[in-house]
Amino acid sequence: MRTRVGIIGAGPAGLLLSHLLHRHGVESVVLESRPRDYVERRQRAGVVEHGVARILREAGVGERMDRDGLVHHGIELRFDGRAHRVDFTDLVDRRVMIYAQTEIVKDLVARRLADGGQVLFEATATALEGVDGDRPRIRYEHGGAEHVLECEAVAACDGFHGIGRRSLPEEAVRTFDRVYPFSWLGILADVPPSCDELVYAHHPTGFALHSMRSTTVSRLYLQVPNGTDPADWSDERIWEGLETRFALRDSDWRLGRGRITDKSVTPMRSFVTEPMRHGRLFLAGDAAHIVPPTGAKGLNLAMHDAVLLAGALRSWLLEGDESRADSYSDDALRRVWRAEHFSYWMTTLLHADPGGSAFDHRLQRSHLEFIASSRAAATQLAENYTGVPGI
Ligand code: FAD
Ligand code: DHB
Repeated sequence: MRTRVGIIGAGPAGLLLSHLLHRHGVESVVLESRPRDYVERRQRAGVVEHGVARILREAGVGERMDRDGLVHHGIELRFDGRAHRVDFTDLVDRRVMIYAQTEIVKDLVARRLADGGQVLFEATATALEGVDGDRPRIRYEHGGAEHVLECEAVAACDGFHGIGRRSLPEEAVRTFDRVYPFSWLGILADVPPSCDELVYAHHPTGFALHSMRSTTVSRLYLQVPNGTDPADWSDERIWEGLETRFALRDSDWRLGRGRITDKSVTPMRSFVTEPMRHGRLFLAGDAAHIVPPTGAKGLNLAMHDAVLLAGALRSWLLEGDESRADSYSDDALRRVWRAEHFSYWMTTLLHADPGGSAFDHRLQRSHLEFIASSRAAATQLAENYTGVPGI
């Protein structure tokens, strides 16, 4: 098979890239190792930045998001039994959209297929060849047989464990890495959210986050030790842990409980590959960089990469202008490093570090109090959380 751009991975990055290329008039094929229903059900992120919501709208795939998504004007920080609101609209005149990654993926898959796009599910890329030359090839398995996709450029949007990044010659890349001494246990529960906006809680027993998927479904996260088996956490233990961490003094606020329908553990990691291009191979999204989820940036970074890459490939493949392809990596990495810093900062601000000293804990509390009392400090959080424009 032949196409202009061979895309590996039907996550948010690969699907948006394929959709934008189609709108630019560039043909692509997406290879995805998993079945369609798996990709559409995999529970992950839920916060869409102000600018990314606009990107989806302008790309003609924001209709369901605007109908069913929840616009949030701020978040709440909880610590020492008190609640402090960070008001994004007041501080930076921007908002975020609560709309699950599963729904974005469903919207993009439906749109690609309606537009006659080629998204091959259960098609696993096994090797990349010739990315240094003019005719790169992707070898893949589909329907029990081996195939080859010939293309002019390869976009590896295949996540952290994909083959794209591993196909880069070792001497051509540099990686930056940090692992954290805790993970998140995430649950989905059939219960209306107990809050109007997301609550990020810092507590001596660990971090907790109250998010939501709709007016009837809550998404909650709990800091747990690395290596935690979700089976060791009964529903009762999870609810008790969450209640302890969200508890407020002098308030009758209560956390509602409901049937838990999904339970999983996510490790926390910061990771960047530089550069994000080698020859005719381009990396986008988690294939190139990972952030710990505390800043809600992973999905948003993947979408920004796709927009930059779609523009770069259009200029190159349709107009013969390679300059944007040449600057793709530098252009993407500016936002990546901003998000890396913010995600690291939110993570270390809010989690209980099992190896932390009493001095570290006092610094954390002082920092939280500063954000709660200083407009300048709160503005920095708001600007990063809603997405820094024009990077
Ligand atoms: P992905 O969504 O990972 O998509 C990559 C796709 O490539 C996958 O569908 C995979 O099946 C496919 N693939 C891989 N290898 C191959 C191959 N060889 N051939 C063909 N296809 C292949 N971010 C947040 O902001 N908040 C969160 O709460 C949050 N929770 C997360 C929980 C988990 C378990 C994970 C893994 C990530 C989470 N993230 C979260 C991060 C966010 O979901 C990602 O940043 C986002 O999915 C990145 O999109 P992507 O398209 O780059 O990669
Ligand atoms: C969600 C995940 C996050 O990592 C975050 O910071 C906020 C919300 C979510 O899954 O809803």
